[in-house]
Amino acid sequence: MKKTIIITGGAGFIGSHVVREFVLNYPDYKIINLDVLTYAGNLENLRDIENKPNYQFIKANITDADKVQEIFTEHQPDGIIHLAAESHVDRSISHPLEFVMTNVIGTVNLLNAAKHIWQDNYEGKRFHHVSTDEVFGTLGEDGFFTEETSYDPHSPYSASKASSDHFVRAYADTYGMPVVLTNCSNNYGPNHFPEKLIPLCIYNIINNKPLPIYGNGKYTRDWLYVIDHAKAINLVFHKAENNSSYNVGGFNEWKNIDLVTELCRQMDEKLGRERGTSEQLITFVQDRPGHDLRYAIDATKIKEELGWTPSVTFEQGLSKTIDWFMDNQEWLNNVTSGDYKKYYEKQYS
Ligand code: NAD
Ligand code: TYD
Repeated sequence: MKKTIIITGGAGFIGSHVVREFVLNYPDYKIINLDVLTYAGNLENLRDIENKPNYQFIKANITDADKVQEIFTEHQPDGIIHLAAESHVDRSISHPLEFVMTNVIGTVNLLNAAKHIWQDNYEGKRFHHVSTDEVFGTLGEDGFFTEETSYDPHSPYSASKASSDHFVRAYADTYGMPVVLTNCSNNYGPNHFPEKLIPLCIYNIINNKPLPIYGNGKYTRDWLYVIDHAKAINLVFHKAENNSSYNVGGFNEWKNIDLVTELCRQMDEKLGRERGTSEQLITFVQDRPGHDLRYAIDATKIKEELGWTPSVTFEQGLSKTIDWFMDNQEWLNNVTSGDYKKYYEKQYS
């Protein structure tokens, strides 16, 4: 084995695509997926690769410092790719402390464990922290987030991610930890948990349920196909300089209302429904408190320095995503049974 890499949160939406990217492309690495399997973690996301000889799953909570230390000591990883997090803004508004525990304390536990096993000899080692563009706060009608944009988080989720980013940089500055960071825009694609806008609307269109649009629907996000994010993480992990950070995004901005309308159009076609049928499900609902108006990433640095570009257009990516959900309704039904129903009721009643 050339390297041992621990990927945290590897059973989640993005993490599962990152695990697959590394397991399939680096057969001589040992890839360890460390995940506690919250409501958002699902080993079904990894069925196709779970028997690969270079893959191992360990169930553990990153808030448990002793357990994290024990795992790091036993497996002596050369690299950490850290994705484990509480990731949904709406849940952070009702349960902020859970976000502090996992996103802040959990990150510091991982940094401490890495520092301990690497014992300040950081040759060939790397801690890759996966973060979000939401740490930069909100844009007005124009402009982009660059790597130099000041942090200005507004939601408990983005505040916890901003804090974790600061801790990662603090470990680089204070202890010389070799770190890299990526701040990515909104992802979409297969295995997306249906609490987030795109999979929630796909699920509701299939089931003829209302499509809840917060406020006036003019809020804008930059959407990136999840596999392109996984490829960006691969590139940055292997090619970036220590202590660098990269913004990752699709140059693909959509107002929520336009995005959901486009989703309805594509799904009517795929479901054989008359054009305009699903649009009638659109329902404007109470706005999210502290709702950021617009996110947009300037991804010039990763393009120019590392040669990364998205592999699919938005139309292709959205079409693949809808097809995946329509072909995997058992997955969708499994993750929407039980606790999801209670969450949905509370959030949207
Ligand atoms: P997700 O909610 O789908 O998955 C999170 C994973 O982390 C799950 O498998 C969960 O079981 C695991 N996890 C949660 N708490 C844990 C704990 N205490 N210990 C161990 N494992 C734990 O999240 P996602 O959308 O895949 O996001 C992954 C990462 O990427 C996060 O750090 C998020 O902030 C970041 N990110 C997400 C997006 C996006 O659009 N979803 C965009 C940019 C960055
Ligand atoms: P979301 O998918 O939760 O991602 P984030 O909040 O991290 O950007 O939301 C994307 C956008 O869609 C955001 O502006 C909030 C909005 N939204 C709705 O209008 N209705 C919904 O039911 C959800 C979940 C989100």
